[in-house]
Amino acid sequence: MPVYNIHLQSPDKTIDTVVPCRHDQPILEAAEAQGLALPYSCRSAACGTCAGRVLSGTVSLDEQFILGDGDLEAGYTCLCSALPTSDCRILTHQRSNIDGV
Ligand code: FES
Repeated sequence: MPVYNIHLQSPDKTIDTVVPCRHDQPILEAAEAQGLALPYSCRSAACGTCAGRVLSGTVSLDEQFILGDGDLEAGYTCLCSALPTSDCRILTHQRSNIDGV
């Protein structure tokens, strides 16, 4: 079972840490397992509270209801539902930067 290294950074750098995340584990959950509290609300890819931006690496987000095409093209994802498919570097706390659908 692959486990990826997810490097999470906040815009103001109060978060700058690497958490292990299984390929079948939402990134938000992996952060919580390491004691890192990231913002969330619905946990079902519908509100955008957990939005992050993938700076490098890849994630899989099968179903989501909040991000627009432009958001997805810019690398935004819902950390409550995104599963890693490689090691990643991700900017957290991106709710205010997404345009939405
Ligand atoms: S917590 Fe609502 S979209 Fe992730």
